[in-house]
Amino acid sequence: MTQDPTSMTNPGAAGASTRKVFIKTYGCQMNVYDSGRMADALSADGYVPTETMDDADLVLLNTCHIREKAAEKVYSALGRLREHKKARAAEGKEFLIGVAGCVAQAEGEEISRREPAVDVVLGPQTYHRLPQALQKVRAGERVVDTEYALEDKFEHLPDPTRIPGKPRNVTAFLTVQEGCDKFCTFCVVPYTRGSEVSRPLAQLLAEARKLVDAGVRELTLLGQNVNAWHGEDEKGRAIGLGDLLYRLADIPGLARLRYTTSHPRDMDDRLIEAHRDLRILMPYLHLPVQSGSDRILKAMNRRHKASEYVALIERIRSVRPDIALSGDFIVGFPGETDEDFEDTMKLVREVNYAQAYSFKYSTRPGTPGADLPDHLSEDVKGERLARLQALLLEQQQAFMHSKVGQTMELLLEKPGRMPGQLIGRSPWLQSVNVDAISSQIGDIINVRINAIGPNSLFAEVAPG
Ligand code: SAH
Ligand code: SF4
Ligand code: F3S
Repeated sequence: MTQDPTSMTNPGAAGASTRKVFIKTYGCQMNVYDSGRMADALSADGYVPTETMDDADLVLLNTCHIREKAAEKVYSALGRLREHKKARAAEGKEFLIGVAGCVAQAEGEEISRREPAVDVVLGPQTYHRLPQALQKVRAGERVVDTEYALEDKFEHLPDPTRIPGKPRNVTAFLTVQEGCDKFCTFCVVPYTRGSEVSRPLAQLLAEARKLVDAGVRELTLLGQNVNAWHGEDEKGRAIGLGDLLYRLADIPGLARLRYTTSHPRDMDDRLIEAHRDLRILMPYLHLPVQSGSDRILKAMNRRHKASEYVALIERIRSVRPDIALSGDFIVGFPGETDEDFEDTMKLVREVNYAQAYSFKYSTRPGTPGADLPDHLSEDVKGERLARLQALLLEQQQAFMHSKVGQTMELLLEKPGRMPGQLIGRSPWLQSVNVDAISSQIGDIINVRINAIGPNSLFAEVAPG
């Protein structure tokens, strides 16, 4: 992750009356984007971000509900915040606690019942109402707002490029789509984020242009189901994510585009053409498959076969041979046999991933998967996960090794640990350290990879 909204400082708004907010972000990139927008909304209210809860007047937990462990973390964090609140109250100081994100949406009232120290619970569709919610809290109310707001929150949030003192990044996220209608049987997202909504083309082009004017060189389009994005062009024609990428590629000054996360069923021809035609679109695709067994894919309601996924990858590679593939896997879905798991291993060998995420199945109450028979033991899930992860790691390392000796373009994003060192990203999303004294953050330079670290690459500036 290249952006950390919790570490933003805002010297422009500093002053005696300044309040400080600490936002802790869990979960996916959409939450990272949302945390940034919540910080924007609060800056209008005089809050500046801080990096610890120790000097904060408000702590917001932007939570994730995807797996049981992710949700549990929230309650243990709330326990610590409760103690801190008591200590602050003894000093006569305000200390407010807010819970946002997917646990807030899923559990609502239950959160303040379980942890009465919580002042405000806000679902992901109501962040623009955060300043009003805090006003109500100060008037003695406890606020739980998990409605799907009728108004468009994006229209009501402050312009992210106009916040005084907000440091500019050269990379930015842009949420283009929210929610999901796919209802995979293991997943809470359709319940926590609601049904699929695409932001209109004009709004997205305007936000993208503003970000580029403010110095952004790389945009990552976000959505729980980003390639389900759909809209209308100026002539009223129906368009999809591929068309949106072509339109964004025309913005002068923008150097790189990425998008995440996609569903295999929404990889249409136009999107594949965009990978063929647009040099600005980076050769990297996160395309989760979850399992390599047709039986399990069916039980998961993924609505495609393993062979269709493999054929899709072949089509994408035929138009963009250097594309790096990333994926998500769940092992130990209810009823998964040894053969089903071997099918997943087989698919991974066939596809050959540059990197991937893999998880043990976690039962989520309220999802259809929870009611299926034949849940597996933690031991079996653990063994399978270890085998899968060993294979994925091997593939990731082979991918990194294949880049040694190659010259590639690097977008410089931030200072490195050593003086004169900068950290950038390769087209394949790898973090690369380079000694580049004469270059600046935001530059795209040619480098030659000369070594591999555990999670990153090392390079020298390429001659010429
Ligand atoms: N929208 C994306 C991913 C959403 S969640 C998609 O469709 O692929 C991110 C990942 O978390 C999923 O791809 C899946 O691999 C994992 N995940 C979701 N629910 C899970 C569960 N109940 N147990 C374990 N992993 C889960
Ligand atoms: Fe969850 Fe499936 Fe929707 Fe992805 S496509 S968010 S895994 S329901
Ligand atoms: Fe988690 Fe919600 Fe994202 S459940 S993965 S924060 S959409």
